Parts: sequence; C-alpha cells; structure tokens
Amino acid sequence: MCHDYEEFLEEVLIPEEILQQRVAELGAQISRDYKESEKLILLCILRGGVMFLTDLIRHVTIPHMVDFMAVSSYGAGSRQSTGQVRITLDLNTSIENCDVLIVEDIIDSGRTLASVINLLSARKPRSLAVCTLLDKAERREVEVPLRYVGFTIPNKFVFGYGLDLDELYRNLPFIGVVNEEKYQQSRMRHEC
Ligand code: PRP
Ligand code: MN
Ligand code: MG
Repeated sequence: MCHDYEEFLEEVLIPEEILQQRVAELGAQISRDYKESEKLILLCILRGGVMFLTDLIRHVTIPHMVDFMAVSSYGAGSRQSTGQVRITLDLNTSIENCDVLIVEDIIDSGRTLASVINLLSARKPRSLAVCTLLDKAERREVEVPLRYVGFTIPNKFVFGYGLDLDELYRNLPFIGVVNEEKYQQSRMRHEC
C-alpha cells in the first residue's frame, strides 16, 4: 500500500462498535421476518457488499443460502455513476420461488440496484427485497425499495468496511470520510 489512510481521514463517520451493533440488529430482524421462509437466499452484490454480508450472516439464525453477483457501475478511479450497469458475474443458482434478499454496502444514485432488481424480478423469485448498510438518500436519482437500512448518511465521500477508495481500504472496520484535498496530496506524495 502506497499511503496510509490517516493522512486523509476527515472523520470516522461510523465507528466499528456502532456498526457491529447495527449489523447484529439487522441480522436479528431478518431472522424474525423470514422465519416462515422455506428458501431464503442472501444475495451479495460484489464487491462492496462482502464485508457486510459476512458479518450479517453471523446474526442470521434461520436457515439460508448465500450467493454472489458482481455488477459494475463506477469505473476504477471514477466516483460518478455512469448510469451504465454491467453484469460481470451472475449468480449460478435459480432463484425461482425463493425469497431473495439483496445485500449491498451503499445505495447512492440507486441505478445499480434498480438494474439488479429489474434483472432478478424476471426470474420469478417468491419475494425480492433489499438490505443495505448505508443509504445516501439525498443522492437518489432512481426510486428503489429498501426494506432494511443500517444507516442513512449525508452526502459525504465515504470509505472502509467494503467501500473502496480507488479499490483500496475495503478492509477497514469502520466507515470513514475522505478529505479529498488531503487524499490527492497524499496520492501525489506517495506516487508509486
Ligand atoms: C458501489 C456500491 C454500490 C453502488 C452504489 O459499487 O457498492 O454497489 O456503487 O451506487 P449507485 O446507487 O449510484 O448505483 P461500485 O460500482 O463502486 O463497485 P464495488 O462494489 O465493486 O466497489
Ligand atoms: Mn458495489
Ligand atoms: Mg466501488
């Protein structure tokens, strides 16, 4: 790694302890809501959703399966949604007659999720709902139904806990805010 995040960490928006507490609550809520389900699939949208999924399922106490799907809406290094969503990896199990819960790290414009919902609906799941850790509500361009939201956050550039900063720092256990000016300076200093 070329630079240390502390150089450009503006603030810790959601500390690890608060985050884990909320993840546990969501897992418990999902376990209650889906207790009658005969086939529950937690569908993680790679790559951002992966930290959240792995922590969340530790708190899901009813039988369930996990599967993965990868879509790409932001090119590497870009922070603006292009409105174009590419499916780079499809799930390989049928979701027909299954209760599908999509697990995402963040909903921003809503375009990624809208495309995923559109695609999955055609496969006739019994139900289709969304669980997102973060909801950047004021950035929404497309209406999307969110059944579970961990935290509604302000329009700040966040990273950590699955969310990348130019593909790095997904491993951080908290959600941080980037100081963009300091980040650019730090990148220039540590160019490698
Ligand atoms: C991010 C995030 C969501 C999406 C939200 O993924 O994980 O999937 O963008 O943005 P939207 O609501 O404006 O569509 P990204 O495309 O950066 O890929 P990644 O998960 O692999 O980082
Ligand atoms: Mn993503
Ligand atoms: Mg990303």
